[in-house]
Amino acid sequence: MKKNKALTLASRPHGNLSESNIKQVELTFDETSQQGVVVENLYLSIDPTQRIWMSDRDQYMPPLEIGEVIRAFGIGKVISSSSEQYRPGDFVSGLLGWQEFSIHQPQQLIKLAAPAGVPLTAFLSVLGLTGLTAYFGYYNVLQPARTGTFVVSGAAGAVGSIVGQIGKIEGQKVIGIAGKKNKLDWLREELHFDHVLNYNDADLRQQLARACPNGIDYYFDNVGGSISDTVMPLMSLGGRVALCGLISTYNSETEQGICRSYGQILMRRLTVQGFIVSDYQAQAPEAVGKLLNWVKADKIKYKEHIVVGLEKAPLALAMLFDGRNEGKLIVQVKPD
Ligand SMILES: NC(=O)c1ccc[n+]([C@@H]2O[C@H](COP(=O)([O-])OP(=O)(O)OC[C@H]3O[C@@H](n4cnc5c(N)ncnc54)[C@H](OP(=O)(O)O)[C@@H]3O)[C@@H](O)[C@H]2O)c1
Repeated sequence: MKKNKALTLASRPHGNLSESNIKQVELTFDETSQQGVVVENLYLSIDPTQRIWMSDRDQYMPPLEIGEVIRAFGIGKVISSSSEQYRPGDFVSGLLGWQEFSIHQPQQLIKLAAPAGVPLTAFLSVLGLTGLTAYFGYYNVLQPARTGTFVVSGAAGAVGSIVGQIGKIEGQKVIGIAGKKNKLDWLREELHFDHVLNYNDADLRQQLARACPNGIDYYFDNVGGSISDTVMPLMSLGGRVALCGLISTYNSETEQGICRSYGQILMRRLTVQGFIVSDYQAQAPEAVGKLLNWVKADKIKYKEHIVVGLEKAPLALAMLFDGRNEGKLIVQVKPD
């Protein structure tokens, strides 16, 4: 029997995730008698949505059950397979979970072949769901018909920094909103955002109005709450909003998802569309190809923030909610 260290949901968090919400358990499996593909998990994606999955609020996937291994996308290496599609040594991605090993049906996995010069972890960041969220959010949801003023909240994060750069590639005037000086410096100096604003500044609204004298044509929202309340009244007539995420509300019991300025959708005849990256799964290969070309051409830069050790996954998840992550947050299951 092979041992499998796993992290499970011990109780649902109220407010911030706490240590007591997660339990480390030791599972076992018989490697030799498995029907399916046995994967050694290498890298796990740490995503804000995992906090949603831990709650029992109405959501786009079933909430985690108490006692269930925490759901997580990841990358792993096949160690045994009853399917001809996979061979030991193949790299794969899928919903691997917060555990050392996972067992899958072949159709639950995607085989990976890392292109030259790109690390395997890019399949969790710029070439994975993160990059695809930015890509589909821009082209399929926001669908800008022309160039104009494009505001991104959560701008220095994994999704936000990529969608802002796509906006720059497409000729938009890009304004990024984030919460830390070093992140804002990166957006301005290395990613060439046109304006960067700190949401902690008391005069954020005035700064945003000065940066957007002709109004905001497109808004890519990662955060919701008070930041969106500041952005919405500055939208142009007929403006478009892609609602990607509401991270400012995920730890909230009262879920203030609808911002106070909801009425601006009426007054300014805005189009607001929420989306989940999987809505556009069929277009993923084409999108990954485009993202890869931009990375190779240095038109898209990305950061990965790697935390080592499966047991640190809960601490890593908490980092997303106080902004300690710099770029796509990934847990490396074991040290090299
Ligand atoms: N729709 C989809 O399919 C989809 C897919 C992936 C992600 N998402 C959403 O996209 C958003 C970004 O996800 P990500 O994976 O790229 O994470 P991320 O942006 O890399 O990390 C989260 C960042 O959010 C900011 N933040 C946290 N709490 C905040 C608050 N109360 N107010 C303002 N900013 C706050 C922090 O940056 P600062 O230092 O700037 O505060 C933090 O670094 C999330 O809302 C997520 O749910 C949606």
